[in-house]
Amino acid sequence: KDKKTILVTGGCGFIGSHIAETLVKKDYKVRILDNLSTGKLENIAAIPSQKIEVLLGDITDIATVEIAMKGCEYVFHEAAIASVPKSVKDPIGTDKINYAATLNVLEAARKHSVRRVVFAGSAAVYGDEPTLPKKESMPTNPITPYGVDKLASELMGHCYNRTFGVEFVCLRYFNVFGRRQDPSSPYSGVISIFCDRIFQGIAPVIFGDGQQSRDFVHVSDVVAANILVMEHPDAAGRTFNVGRGKATSLLDIAHLLNDLTGQNLQPIHKEPRPGDIRHSLADNTALTALGWLPKVTIREGLAELIKATQ
Ligand code: UD1
Repeated sequence: KDKKTILVTGGCGFIGSHIAETLVKKDYKVRILDNLSTGKLENIAAIPSQKIEVLLGDITDIATVEIAMKGCEYVFHEAAIASVPKSVKDPIGTDKINYAATLNVLEAARKHSVRRVVFAGSAAVYGDEPTLPKKESMPTNPITPYGVDKLASELMGHCYNRTFGVEFVCLRYFNVFGRRQDPSSPYSGVISIFCDRIFQGIAPVIFGDGQQSRDFVHVSDVVAANILVMEHPDAAGRTFNVGRGKATSLLDIAHLLNDLTGQNLQPIHKEPRPGDIRHSLADNTALTALGWLPKVTIREGLAELIKATQ
């Protein structure tokens, strides 16, 4: 039987483009829906154009989402505003994209009898509770509009799984890093920003004391997690943390980058960001029990990034 199409929303973005690229390599038929708000066509330039269908459009428009969903068997819903501070600045604008549009995706998936939707959730749903590491069974308590939208999206996804039979898997990403994470916006991921600055010989700016820590996970491991849960029989209806289970502070990141580039740039400290979480660390036993094994260490991932920037 012919393989059906897989839709990747946000497929021109950082994580989405890596998912699309890997699916194409595995010979799946891939369609991307992206409005190029933060995504870029150059992110998918390495994919032969005859192997991929790219629809330029907005997930906030249900008619567009329905057109994109036609004939799809699986959906990876990666399109979102990835920035926590952006949601603090503009909660209504963010909600339209990070929550209301998720409902568009789910509803279109129901209408078109999509088999399974895999959702880009977030560790932000845990909020700033001090208990570490975070387990999927722990209570959620998001402290930003971003975290609330990601939680509302996963709840609605599970509702569609139970009530409408659209299989749904939520992956709670911890801090994803790797190539194609755009450093040019202040709303981007901290590693891409630090890397870009250190590469130019400019000291990184740390919001706060730099002791805050994150569970940084390489994008290739995140892609592997997505592909694993796409067809795994024990994944439907569940939520999984996607983190290495290792905490790294921002000071450590700055130090590692200095080390790898042979520099000694002292970070500049500024006021902490409102809505920032202090520490974030994943318990990944649920996903590793399914067969996931994160491979790329922070140091290896940073070294690859530096090489790619050269
Ligand atoms: C990140 C992701 C979010 C994801 C979440 C899951 C991005 C942009 N955000 O949020 O999508 O859902 O992890 O855990 O990818 N910082 C600096 N200097 C800078 C930039 C940031 O000190 O120049 C600090 C921030 O104040 C924060 C830490 O670095 O303490 C991480 O910030 P950021 O990379 O934006 O990620 P999260 O807010 O953790």
